[in-house]
Amino acid sequence: MVTVNGQFPGPRIVAREGDRLLIKVVNHVQHNISIHWHGIRQLQSGWADGPAYVTQCPIQTGQSYVYNFTIVGQRGTLFWHAHISWLRSTVYGPLIILPKHGVPYPFTKPHKEVPIIFGEWWNADPEAVIAQALQTGGGPNVSDAYTINGLPGPLYNCSAKDTFKLRVKRGKTYLLRLINAALNDELFFSIANHTLTVVDVDAIYVKPFETNTILIAPGQTTNVLLKTKPHFPNATFLMSARPYATGQGTFDNSTVAGILEYQVPQNILMHSTNTLPLFKPTLPALNDTSFATKFSNKLRSLASPQFPANVPQNVDRHFFFTVSLGTSPCDSNQTCQGPNGTKFAASMNNVSFILPITTSLLQAHHFGQSHAVYSSNFPISPLIPFNYTGTPPNNTMVSNGTKLAVLPFNTSVELVLQDTSILGAESHPLHLHGFNFFVVGQGFGNFDPNKDPKKFNLVDPVERNTIGVPSGGWVAIRFLADNPGVWFMHCHLEVHTSWGLKMAWVVLDGELPNQKLLPPPADLPKC
Ligand code: C2O
Repeated sequence: MVTVNGQFPGPRIVAREGDRLLIKVVNHVQHNISIHWHGIRQLQSGWADGPAYVTQCPIQTGQSYVYNFTIVGQRGTLFWHAHISWLRSTVYGPLIILPKHGVPYPFTKPHKEVPIIFGEWWNADPEAVIAQALQTGGGPNVSDAYTINGLPGPLYNCSAKDTFKLRVKRGKTYLLRLINAALNDELFFSIANHTLTVVDVDAIYVKPFETNTILIAPGQTTNVLLKTKPHFPNATFLMSARPYATGQGTFDNSTVAGILEYQVPQNILMHSTNTLPLFKPTLPALNDTSFATKFSNKLRSLASPQFPANVPQNVDRHFFFTVSLGTSPCDSNQTCQGPNGTKFAASMNNVSFILPITTSLLQAHHFGQSHAVYSSNFPISPLIPFNYTGTPPNNTMVSNGTKLAVLPFNTSVELVLQDTSILGAESHPLHLHGFNFFVVGQGFGNFDPNKDPKKFNLVDPVERNTIGVPSGGWVAIRFLADNPGVWFMHCHLEVHTSWGLKMAWVVLDGELPNQKLLPPPADLPKC
């Protein structure tokens, strides 16, 4: 397996708001590699963002690259991961940003902070899994397990010894920094007999609320407070996670678990906590969209004087993108296992995105050499009357292209993402690089441009970098294009990215020096 510094999950990076990070990545494996700092805004430092062929050519075997960026105006939990092919299945780790010195959290100071990173595991080389899927045009083999901090847990005999244990003291508050680094599955997570208080998502504080279960999509992070019981509970507790699955696709139907264990007080005589009863949490049903909707509706920006929600109140450009799974023709050297002898493809506005291979989009843009690399005509159609949630049309074919949408500096953007049911409805966690956005509205069925915007929340919508486009529904987001560069946007279900559910925005430089992309570093990898 490919790892960083021989560790799995990879090393934890702990920084502070305002810090400048210099991270040298040396490639000692036989794969091309690149690393993305997921959720870091990379203001003016797009060269350090990391997606292969988008902002850089990959780092080749024996080569190195120094990622150089400053963390501006962000604090909370993010993560880093490989951003090429499926290498992020094993190449990932927490990226924790503490507030500036002397700036407290807007909630109870935790006794301890604990990163909990969910992953997905194959008893195979994940690169071979996706290579085979692309070759056959069918779906990839499902994973063999989910993991918590790299460990599948005690629910299966084969992995019982590989269990993450959280040892706690009674009567304390713990900050759990939850990260979903799984490739292809949104996850429910719960700890038996304990309530969690959500305080932060995607490194943005939210209005705190209590819940027994959280829902977390690949690419999302959630900070929760866990208050331990005031008295020794004479029990141990399971924490577990399993998928929220909306598609007809197959998924790994296993449950990952870890153990919450209380330190035994000295006045209690006990030989081993193994003799204590073990309580298990109840998780929502696999397809519990009603839970998913209620949960996402509870997420609101803190919107306090110290942490205001700067929601764009006016919009310069309205965009409407459909998000679909579809098919594309089978190549002559393939025997495709997709629907009717086709191969699976996925698209936004019917374009299945193709990455360049001889350079990166950002280099092509920055050096004025986009001509042979991409076109700036991403199809921006007005809302066409089409029932996106009705019966599948006969033609599910998508088109291919490297088409980008161009935004002048400081454009205020509203983007409606509409799930379609062309090959069945499915929730898609859409991730935008380079920005946070505000989730101003969401709903089921077809977005109605006359009615729905009237209900938008422009006061305290949640701000984040990854949002689930609801299965058979839509979500509306707003962001200010104040970061010059080329910014990838894609489904964080990795198989959908492999199938083309991705695109990129070009944000042009502004007039002032602090509105321009800085020049590329000298060690920027070559293709
Ligand atoms: Cu978490 Cu484009 O990535």
